[in-house]
Amino acid sequence: MFNRRKFLQSSVFSSLSMAFGKKVLAGDPGAGHLVTGNPIVISTWDEGLAANKGAWEILGYNGRALDAVEAGVRVTEASLNCCVGLGANPDRDGIVTLDACIMDEFANCGSVAFLERIKHPISVARRVMEKTPHVMLVGVGAQEFALSEGFPLEKQKLSEDAQRTYEQWLKKSEYKPVINIENSKAGHGPFAPAQFDNGQWNHDTIGMVAMDAMGNLSGSCTTSGMGFKMRGRVGDSPIIGAGLFVDNEVGAATATGQGEDVIRICGTHAVVELMRQGHSPEQACKKAVERIIKVKGEKAKGIQVGFLALNKRGEVGAFAIQKGFSYALKSNTEEKMVQVGSWY
Ligand code: GLY
Repeated sequence: MFNRRKFLQSSVFSSLSMAFGKKVLAGDPGAGHLVTGNPIVISTWDEGLAANKGAWEILGYNGRALDAVEAGVRVTEASLNCCVGLGANPDRDGIVTLDACIMDEFANCGSVAFLERIKHPISVARRVMEKTPHVMLVGVGAQEFALSEGFPLEKQKLSEDAQRTYEQWLKKSEYKPVINIENSKAGHGPFAPAQFDNGQWNHDTIGMVAMDAMGNLSGSCTTSGMGFKMRGRVGDSPIIGAGLFVDNEVGAATATGQGEDVIRICGTHAVVELMRQGHSPEQACKKAVERIIKVKGEKAKGIQVGFLALNKRGEVGAFAIQKGFSYALKSNTEEKMVQVGSWY
């Protein structure tokens, strides 16, 4: 059957390559970069499959990667069944606080952290990027900005699952700051339910990176952070260079897992710089994991961090500290989940 998407792609690319060889004109977002014609999107964990479909509604029609990575993770933010968005586990005070960031091919970036009662933090992050002179807004200021931009204020109400888990946590946990608890089984520690589920590492984040048909890269990252975190705690996900980094000349990377240890090594910035030095995406992710292992020593046995990267050639790779990390990939030819290699 004739495929409109393929037609659009082939017509755009044949006219581009006829006019300009393999390059596009100066001033174009892809100036100086090869036109690949092969859009691709990757995102962390099982929820990535649905998120990638959302992104593909844009990428598959030659849309911009930036629009795709926003649309993609909005699918996850709207779901009440995972650890992202307003349906997720709350902090110790029983309040869901959300972090997100977004970055485009021009190194434009925007971020929100400690944001309450807003359904789509990723879209607020994009507005920060596009409508303010700043990169990051947090807390009440971020919420006020969101309201001024027309985002609705949602009810302060936990999802049924989160309410149940929170009540269970309250019974067993002392209500005081606990630090350095990184290896707690579900229900017994402040960070536990976001990390473990029946003995499996569980996720707290969706990170997505994409390359569009022009060969341009963008990324997004959004999370509720660790379940039952201290009030005010912010992880890696809204921090450019930690939870997400994009360099349109080299590649893009995102992170998931224990944010403190991603921040410690400026994780995704490290991954992109390692790709710049010539490492493949998987090698770069592995080397970033090795940096965490080196810093944490034995304590690394009790934490999970996963990195996921895409280079300018459209090659993909990932690596994690612990078994169990997976990512979703969608391209013109493939739609699949990939299990990731790990240090342990
Ligand atoms: N990786 C998400 C967080 O630590 O908040």
